[in-house]
Amino acid sequence: MNRQTQLNILTSLAVMEDAPVIPVIVLHDLAHAVPLARALVAGGIRMLEITLRTPIALEAMRLISHEVPEAVVGAGTVCSATDAQAAQDAGAQFAVSPGYTSEIGRVCREIGLPLLPGVATASEIMHAQDGGYTELKFFPAAQAGGVAMLRALAGPFAQTRFCPTGGISIQNAPEYLALPNVICVGGSWLIPAEALAQGDFARIEALAHHAACLQRT
Ligand code: 3PG
Repeated sequence: MNRQTQLNILTSLAVMEDAPVIPVIVLHDLAHAVPLARALVAGGIRMLEITLRTPIALEAMRLISHEVPEAVVGAGTVCSATDAQAAQDAGAQFAVSPGYTSEIGRVCREIGLPLLPGVATASEIMHAQDGGYTELKFFPAAQAGGVAMLRALAGPFAQTRFCPTGGISIQNAPEYLALPNVICVGGSWLIPAEALAQGDFARIEALAHHAACLQRT
C-alpha cells in the first residue's frame, strides 16, 4: 500500500484495528527514530505514535515517513490545532490527543487527519461524540478506572470504541483486549528507555512481536 492510498482510506477505526497495540514513543535522539520504527514494523506493529514531547518529535516523524514507508506515522500528545497541523506537515497520518477540545476536533476534521481523542469520563465522551468522534483513547486508563470503568461505559455508550492507554502492560493488556468495546491498547512498554539507550532494537522487535500476537475479541 503506498502512502497516498493510506491517506485516502485511513480512519481512526483503521488505525485502531491494525494491531492490538499502538506504541507510545518518546524519542530523545533522532538517531533512534529509523531503527526503532524498523524494529517495531519487523515485530508486526506499524501504527506508530510519536509523542510531541521532545524537540525532535516532528523531525523524527519526517525521517520515519521518508525512510520507513511500511510504518504509518502518527503524532501523540497533540494538544492544540497548531500541533495537529505541524504533525500532519511532518508526515503524521493520524493524531492522538490526551484530551478533547472542539477546536482540535474541528481542525483535524478539516485537514483530514484521523484523530483518537483522549477521554476519561462520560461527559468527555459526550463532548467528543458531539464533534463526531466515537473512536476514542481512554486515558489515563489504569488511573481512570481501568477495565471496570470501560465495562461501565459500555452501557450508555454502546457505539463507542476505545484504545485504553496509560498503565497498560503485556501482563494486563489481555484483560483490556477481551472487552467488546476495546479495539486496541496503547502503551510505552514496547520501547523500554534502557533498550533504546543501548540501541537494543532486537529486544524492541521481540516486544513488538509479542504485542502483535495478543488476542483480541
Ligand atoms: C502516555 O501518554 O504516556 C501513555 O499513557 C503511555 O502510558 P504508559 O507509559 O503507562 O504506557
